Amino acid sequence: MTIIVTGGAGFIGSNFIFHMLGKYPDYRIICLDKLTYAGNLSTLRPVMDNPNFRFVKADICDRDAVFALFEEEQPDIVVNFAAESHVDRSIEDPGVFLKTNILGTQTLMDACRKFGIKRYHQVSTDEVYGDLPLDRPDLFFTETTPIHTSSPYSASKASADLLVQAYHRTFGLPVTISRCSNNYGPYHFPEKLIPLMIANCLNDKPLPVYGEGLNVRDWLYVEDHCKAIDLIIHNGRVGEVYNIGGHNEMRNIDIVKIICKALGKSESLITYVTDRKGHDMRYAIDPTKIHNELGWLPETMFRDGIEKTIAWYLKNREWWETIISGEYRHYYEMMYGNR
Ligand code: NAD
Ligand code: TYD
Repeated sequence: MTIIVTGGAGFIGSNFIFHMLGKYPDYRIICLDKLTYAGNLSTLRPVMDNPNFRFVKADICDRDAVFALFEEEQPDIVVNFAAESHVDRSIEDPGVFLKTNILGTQTLMDACRKFGIKRYHQVSTDEVYGDLPLDRPDLFFTETTPIHTSSPYSASKASADLLVQAYHRTFGLPVTISRCSNNYGPYHFPEKLIPLMIANCLNDKPLPVYGEGLNVRDWLYVEDHCKAIDLIIHNGRVGEVYNIGGHNEMRNIDIVKIICKALGKSESLITYVTDRKGHDMRYAIDPTKIHNELGWLPETMFRDGIEKTIAWYLKNREWWETIISGEYRHYYEMMYGNR
């Protein structure tokens, strides 16, 4: 089995590559990644010498490069993680989100059509469903919840999902889509809530909580997401969407307090800052379908997952310190300087 994993130098893609190489010693895994600001080749160092692994630096929008790679490798499966993934950046500059997340998806699927793959899997997000009100804890996103997006990021991901479904219906492309809630764990880029708060805590810097910190996200340990995708690409039904979520809803402010406590830092570091534009209030996934059809359940409880995650950031300071000392400083100043 040969699998092309796009975006494998990022957070979830790298964890997926580690999972697959560890579990299937006879699979060949090719990572195709542009190495944007969010891609980090050092993350893949542990597998670079694995004879079953190959890294290729390319843009998923680059037709020539994508088609040449497919011709050479003749993949059985493609799993597309490559995307611009940060909501705040999409509010500053939507264009690259539309290009990579929509047109990049199209390019990959065109290559899949030409080279006759067995499965194209699109890694999507629960954000395509918009948000839920805080006063209706009985409501959850199911696979039939209408698409209703809030940010340029979620709109671009939803557009890609529609295109994937259109390629299935029109061209018979064997596709699956997964829509997952917020992930956390090792190699999470420090622009996102949990790693940002860990890094700032460790550097005794203010912890910028948007609005009142009451927004709710459903947090899933990244390994559980990877296991779900593994199940879907092997056993999921073609043409189907699968929601993935942990039934682990937490308010942002509570997460930040947990991190302060775990690192022995004062909550006085918490600083309430101007809210994100169009900020989604609550995400909550109903994972009944993937549980019933594929037997998937989250395995890592939040209290264990956050402990493991914090321990990883303490042990791997060089990984994130290299990131936050580079170009990231300009991003941070622009986003948080006058907030
Ligand atoms: P990330 O930002 O950490 O990594 C994205 C990776 O894609 C990087 O390695 C980057 O270099 C690469 N990339 C970006 N543009 C590219 C291009 N044009 N060509 C090739 N490679 C390109 O993202 P992540 O958090 O690992 O998310 C991966 C996927 O999962 C995304 O599609 C995202 O929408 C989805 N998702 C993420 C979450 C989450 O909580 N992080 C939740 C649900 C779904
Ligand atoms: P984020 O990690 O960007 O994921 P998403 O927006 O895709 O859910 O943000 C998670 C939540 O944390 C979201 O409600 C915004 C909030 N947040 C802050 O309060 N402060 C921050 O500095 C960041 C990055 C996020």
